[in-house]
Amino acid sequence: MSNSPFLSNCAAETIDDGAAALKAGYLVAFPTETVYGLGADATNPIAVARIYEVKGRPSDHPLIVHIADLKYLDQWIADMPEYAIALARDYWPGPMTLILKRSELAKDFITGNQNTVAIRIPDNSIALGLLEAFHKLGGAGIAAPSANRFGQVSPTTASAVLEELGDYLTEEDSVLDGGPSAVGLESTIIDCTGTSPRILRPGAITVAMIEKTTRLEISKVLDEETIGTNELHIRFSGSLENHYSPKAKVLLDQQPVTGSGYIALTEIPTPPGVIRLAAPKSVEEFAQVLYEALRAGDHQNLTAIYVSQPTGDDLAIAIRDRLLKASN
Ligand code: TXA
Ligand code: MG
Repeated sequence: MSNSPFLSNCAAETIDDGAAALKAGYLVAFPTETVYGLGADATNPIAVARIYEVKGRPSDHPLIVHIADLKYLDQWIADMPEYAIALARDYWPGPMTLILKRSELAKDFITGNQNTVAIRIPDNSIALGLLEAFHKLGGAGIAAPSANRFGQVSPTTASAVLEELGDYLTEEDSVLDGGPSAVGLESTIIDCTGTSPRILRPGAITVAMIEKTTRLEISKVLDEETIGTNELHIRFSGSLENHYSPKAKVLLDQQPVTGSGYIALTEIPTPPGVIRLAAPKSVEEFAQVLYEALRAGDHQNLTAIYVSQPTGDDLAIAIRDRLLKASN
């Protein structure tokens, strides 16, 4: 490929080059602890427009602004309730995005014309290094959606980023390789514009963690699709990207048929003739390997991938949320 983006290891110099490229208006995909992000200067409308183009994503779809430290938060927001301050103190840097009332700096091209802005401080040394270097150059924050084409599975490795976006990035853009993402699922998104927190997307920061920190109860409404399973109601405002779909058909909690792929906790045996794609030892490992396992199924041209879902109230809720979307 003549216009292939630069895939780099992550020496200090490379991180500084990445920050300079962002400042100059180019795109830099980078690792975070959740999934890889496709970064652009969050104050540059032309650079942000390229994110939408490269992802093939509708342009009214809001983006998360990533910052390195709480000291860069004020400029982006109008105000912040006490409970959100408590969440920020307890879980940043970490797999949590807060939706807050925006300041003048958060333009419509970031917020999708909403009066709120999504903010996250990621817990990954390369992401934080890139952000710090970018702030040193005068940058306010890096807008970064997951580095996949619209509606596809989020990438948790640099090679998955190249597989998704390699054809759409130019040689001035780059992909920083930080190895596999530690968490493997997108951040918990919490709407902090009301009197109590509301989960818009479940993730590794769980209901119990949020309730413990804020001492507030999160409203648990049953969703039409999941009534009877006691699942959290997820109102995913502004969200169209809820497919997370591989090419293979994803089937949940059914007996896998011969020739199909299978993902389940390690204690569940593989039926004869079924292709085991992952056998994680814990719910945490399930989250880590899930997206790569779905990709592996596609690489093997499987038509169906069966998944035995993990049970439980914590990270398992986020896993079941993504699997439900993948199976629709
Ligand atoms: O873990 C993550 O959050 C990753 C890494 C790269 O940080 N990012 C990520 O971004 O998942 P994205 O764009 O793929 O998903 C962010 C979601 C979008 O679906 C968007 O609708 C929602 O966040 N969002 C962003 N700003 C919002 C806002 N102001 N109000 C409500 N939802 C918002
Ligand atoms: Mg995404």
